[in-house]
Amino acid sequence: MENNFFNILFSRKSVRNFTDKEVTKEQLEHIVKAGMTAPSAMNKQPWTFIIIDDRKLLDTLGDRLPHSKMLMQASAAIIVCGDMHKALEDWQQEYWVQDCSAASMNILLATEAMGLGSVWTGLYPAKGRVRTVVELLGLPEHIIPLNAIPIGYPAGIETPKDKFNPSAIHWNGWKK
Ligand SMILES: Cc1cc2nc3c(=O)[nH]c(=O)nc-3n(C[C@H](O)[C@H](O)[C@H](O)COP(=O)(O)O)c2cc1C
Repeated sequence: MENNFFNILFSRKSVRNFTDKEVTKEQLEHIVKAGMTAPSAMNKQPWTFIIIDDRKLLDTLGDRLPHSKMLMQASAAIIVCGDMHKALEDWQQEYWVQDCSAASMNILLATEAMGLGSVWTGLYPAKGRVRTVVELLGLPEHIIPLNAIPIGYPAGIETPKDKFNPSAIHWNGWKK
C-alpha cells in the first residue's frame, strides 16, 4: 500500500512556474527545518540557509542568474550554502557538497509535501554564478552557495517524470 511518503516522493518535480500567492515566513522556516534533518558526514551539519522573501532581491538575483530566472516569479527562495568553518578538514572538506545536497533534497520534498513547488538551480561549482550570489548577498569568504531554490505555489504546468530505469540497477557487482 502506498503511504504518504511515497506519494510525495513520486509526485516531486521541478516547478519553474508559480502563481502570485505568497509563501509565509512560517512555511519557509518549516522547510529549512526539514533541510536540517539531513544526514551529514560525521554530523558536521556544514550548512547555512539564506531565506529570501524580498521581492526586489529575488528579481535582482533572477535577472543576474540566467539559469535561475524563475526567481523573478517565485514568492521566495532558499540559498543552500556550505559553511567552511563547520566543514571537515583536508580531503574531507569536500563532503560539504554531499551534506548540503542531502539538505537540499529534503527541502525539495518538504515543498512538495506542503503543496508548494520548487526547483534546484545550480550555483557551485559554476564560479561565475557563485561570485554573483556572493556579491549580491554579501556572503563572507567561508560561505559557499551550492544552489538557489525558488519556492512558490505551482501554476500547475509541471508533472513528475517517470525515471525508473532497470538498466541502471546492478546486483552484486557489474554484470552484463
Ligand atoms: C545539481 C543540479 C543543478 C540543477 N540546475 C538547474 C538550473 O540551473 N536550472 C534549472 O532550471 N534546473 C536545474 N536543475 C533541475 C533539473 O533540471 C531537474 O531536476 C531535472 O531536469 C529533473 O527533473 P525533475 O526535477 O522534475 O525530476 C538542477 C538540478 C540539479 C540536481
